[in-house]
Amino acid sequence: MHAESEDLQDLILADARRIYSETVIRHAMEPRNLGVMPDADGFGRVTGSCGDTMEISIKVKGNTIADAVFMTDGCGPSIASGSMVTELARGKSIGEARKIAQADVLNGLDGLPEESKHCALLAADTLRAAIADYLLTKREPWKKAYRGRPGL
Ligand code: FES
Repeated sequence: MHAESEDLQDLILADARRIYSETVIRHAMEPRNLGVMPDADGFGRVTGSCGDTMEISIKVKGNTIADAVFMTDGCGPSIASGSMVTELARGKSIGEARKIAQADVLNGLDGLPEESKHCALLAADTLRAAIADYLLTKREPWKKAYRGRPGL
């Protein structure tokens, strides 16, 4: 990388560190579980109060969330929140994953500034929507045909 762009990146990072935890920066810059899952068992798409949208797709084996991926058109904290909420959901039973709330995402990220806390809520709400879709389409599989497709 060019020395000037490295300097610029260092400056941007130094600025970000004044606002966000190291965990937020890590998950925003190198998000885990970013992607789409066309054959998902559950799919949720939620648009938050800020107008940004998140999608979460889950794969369920037995009663456990075997895989969870997310996409968002939102801000850096929403990327970090999607990354964290999918990490929290993986390996959990459906019952446990349903209880994952905004506070759990915030704890996992070592907090977010007040004005970004709604990004963690968006992630928790989207996970709940994906689980609700899983439970609904498990009961009534034909409803899968009417669910949205991943891709925001
Ligand atoms: Fe919209 Fe963060 S500002 S999700």
